[in-house]
Amino acid sequence: MKSANQEIRPVTTKINSKGNIEIGGCDLVELAEKYSTPLYVFDEQTIRSMTQSYKSAFKAYPKMRMMYAAKAFMTKAICKIMQEEGFGLDLCSGGEIFTAKTSGFDMSKTLFNGNNKSPEEINMAIEYGIGTISVDNFFELALLNNAAQSYNKQIRILLRITPGIECHTHEYIQTGHLDSKFGFDLTQVDEAIDLIKNEYNNLNIVGLHAHIGSQIFERRVYFDEVDVIFKEIKRIKDRHNILLKEINLGGGLGIKYTDSDKPISVDEIAQTIIESIKTHSTKYGIEEPVVFIEPGRSLVGTSGVTLYTAGSSKQVPKGRKYQAVDGGMADNARPSLYQAKYTVDIANKPNENKDKKVTISGRFCESGDILAKDILLPEIEEGDIICFYDTGAYGYSMASNYNRVLKPAAVLVNNGKSDIIINRQTYEDLCGLDVIPDRLS
Ligand code: LLP
Repeated sequence: MKSANQEIRPVTTKINSKGNIEIGGCDLVELAEKYSTPLYVFDEQTIRSMTQSYKSAFKAYPKMRMMYAAKAFMTKAICKIMQEEGFGLDLCSGGEIFTAKTSGFDMSKTLFNGNNKSPEEINMAIEYGIGTISVDNFFELALLNNAAQSYNKQIRILLRITPGIECHTHEYIQTGHLDSKFGFDLTQVDEAIDLIKNEYNNLNIVGLHAHIGSQIFERRVYFDEVDVIFKEIKRIKDRHNILLKEINLGGGLGIKYTDSDKPISVDEIAQTIIESIKTHSTKYGIEEPVVFIEPGRSLVGTSGVTLYTAGSSKQVPKGRKYQAVDGGMADNARPSLYQAKYTVDIANKPNENKDKKVTISGRFCESGDILAKDILLPEIEEGDIICFYDTGAYGYSMASNYNRVLKPAAVLVNNGKSDIIINRQTYEDLCGLDVIPDRLS
């Protein structure tokens, strides 16, 4: 069955009787008026249709556990939705741990991962009752064991490994290939396990963790990832007499940003993973493990759109037509960072022909601040509301205050209701952390 990550637009997108685009029963032009722009709009039904797709696709494997990789987009409201949907959280910083905890999330269903967790973050994770920690390197094994000892606690850990799988995605978001900054190389796993067995008595290793990359469109890499992990589990069992009962396959399922993207469905990825687990547990004579996945982008990416207001424009004589909007690289870093492409509509002109070539430029002081190059749209006039689809993942979460421009608000829409889930930053917020030393005042 198709899943929402295979659609460009949120599942509730319609053209309403006023001739405007609506999402979650809310007119985008009215949302822009009410909350101002730039504005992130998140469609609750699209998020829940994705959590539902994951739950039903993996029903055939009862030992499946789902987590949401919060780095894609994290706010307390999203934590609430994920908790309601029965998902755990994959967290990678003190800030994400704090957000989860203060939203009232069940911390036993969280995983803390990252390649350079600070001692303070590790202490915080232990104090807040994190479920499991994915240990990335030797330095961290020692750090974590010391911390666990000082709290007199046993900590459940996974070892993050580099499975050596190349997937075809942007080089900055590939992580599972051999020359990667993440995880233990497979040749280092034995040494790590010896240390855990012999020295690090406060660490309780329960499994292996890998993540092969992001915005993945291939099924095969997941089959291979399970293969590599099973081989390791078998080797560890034979050599160390330890049976690891949990595996975490990371995230990575891609979404459809433009018509040329052909992501696979949640059903397809689930079939591949389940088939690979069954095949390899039979092949190696290993009991079927508890399997975790932790998608980020595919759970929230399609649900989110960004609304901008069209401002100045410039026709370069014999060159491009530039249309500037009131946001740009500080609310969506992906075009300038990864040359990411997006689908765009004008929310108040959805029925007009897209026959004018235009480049949508951001408002930030940098030539590279281009949100969409040479795309086709109807004639844009000042004040039009421009809608970028699929900005739900890695949009707000990578936003900055470049040029001291305020971070936009985010609203959650559902059944004609819109609710703020992140307030627009204020100038007071912006300067709230600034300090003028006495000698300068
Ligand atoms: N698990 C781990 C250990 C990860 O590092 C990541 C993402 C995920 C899960 C979730 O992956 P997803 O399902 O979202 O692909 N900023 C980039 C994406 C970076 C992904 C980093 N790790 C972008 O905007 O494309």
